[in-house]
Amino acid sequence: MFKGGLPTFVIMAEDLQISTSASKEEQYQSLIPQIEALITGETDLIANFGNICAALKEQFKWLWVGFYLVKDDELVLGPFQGPVACTRIKIGRGVCGTAWEQQQAIIVPDVNEFPGHIACSSASVSEIVLPLLKNGVVIGVLDVDSEYIAHFNDIDERYLTKILKLISFNE
Ligand code: SME
Repeated sequence: MFKGGLPTFVIMAEDLQISTSASKEEQYQSLIPQIEALITGETDLIANFGNICAALKEQFKWLWVGFYLVKDDELVLGPFQGPVACTRIKIGRGVCGTAWEQQQAIIVPDVNEFPGHIACSSASVSEIVLPLLKNGVVIGVLDVDSEYIAHFNDIDERYLTKILKLISFNE
């Protein structure tokens, strides 16, 4: 079957080792090397964004996880997992546009308390958004929504930041 040498092995999605009984921190610690293996050697950013979303969704079963990418002075919806979402967000608008403008992660325990929050899904109750930086410039954001109140904390910020740092821009 394999002519001319050994087959190349790749990690397939069904190979993800998902442990839901562990603590949140342990779940990230188990998932991060798997995400690293999934995206290492793949130079296509969209492919890697897609697999990062899929792996996170598989592990944490969040309502929505996805990237918005800066295009022509707007955030435009990129790869995501979850319900359909708003496609364009201006700088300074909503949680995503604010994280972009301030170039920092934002944790929103209750979206009803965040002025200007953009409700793509009425099921979303709490949210975390992190800027995706390339050479110190925000080129997008990672947005995660939960249907549970105060679902995200500094552990999510720390480990999601680590995951974003795994992304290589050597296209
Ligand atoms: N709630 C976000 C909009 C994106 S959706 O949640 C997927 C915001 O306020 O920017």
